[in-house]
Amino acid sequence: MKITFYGHASLGIEVDGKNIIVDPFITGNTLADAIDINTLKADYILLTHAHYDHVLDVEAIAKNTDAIIVSNPEITTYYEKKGFKSHFMNHGGSWRFDFGTVRYVNAVHSSSFADGTYGGNPGGFVIETKSKNIYIAGDTALTYDMKLIPLRTKLDLVILPIGNNFTMDLEDAIVASDFLECNKILGYHYDSNPYIEINHEESIRKFLDKKKELLLLEVGESLEF
Ligand code: NI
Ligand code: MN
Repeated sequence: MKITFYGHASLGIEVDGKNIIVDPFITGNTLADAIDINTLKADYILLTHAHYDHVLDVEAIAKNTDAIIVSNPEITTYYEKKGFKSHFMNHGGSWRFDFGTVRYVNAVHSSSFADGTYGGNPGGFVIETKSKNIYIAGDTALTYDMKLIPLRTKLDLVILPIGNNFTMDLEDAIVASDFLECNKILGYHYDSNPYIEINHEESIRKFLDKKKELLLLEVGESLEF
């Protein structure tokens, strides 16, 4: 599995010959200026919720790639009406795609499109593949529901927001990784605006103090594991 960080909460995942884009917000992020969305490959676009900083580039990428948009029914209906392909899921449900099984799980947050359209309940994704299992939390507070995930899935990597203000902070992300029973954490949702700037060295050290590994990728950098 190869995971590429496209800045903010945007990810590219390559697994089993398939390409997945998660929460594309690239053209609106000056830290991601070097990323050309027209070069991105996508068979699927996974969306955790409808906020602007997670869906800005969905239509452009879906138009280029003919990707299937995977999210809750309110979000998929919004894009279906515009002619895009989709697969809708809801909390607790899972579906076996050609790259692996995706479960849509709870997130404590809100979800509306920039124009005010209701974006359903926000979520996260547990992705089980032949090689690795990961959890993408989306925007969320620390929640006890995270404890449910390792009851079913042994996670190899958890992707957690760490920027504070809009989501949980670093301290809560450390507790979340305990709940998730996974000590390998990819941090996201930080530095892309003044409210969520973090000190990288200090953040990594705080995780290290708990014998946990916090990975902070450069925009465009990939993690292969
Ligand atoms: Ni949000
Ligand atoms: Mn966000």
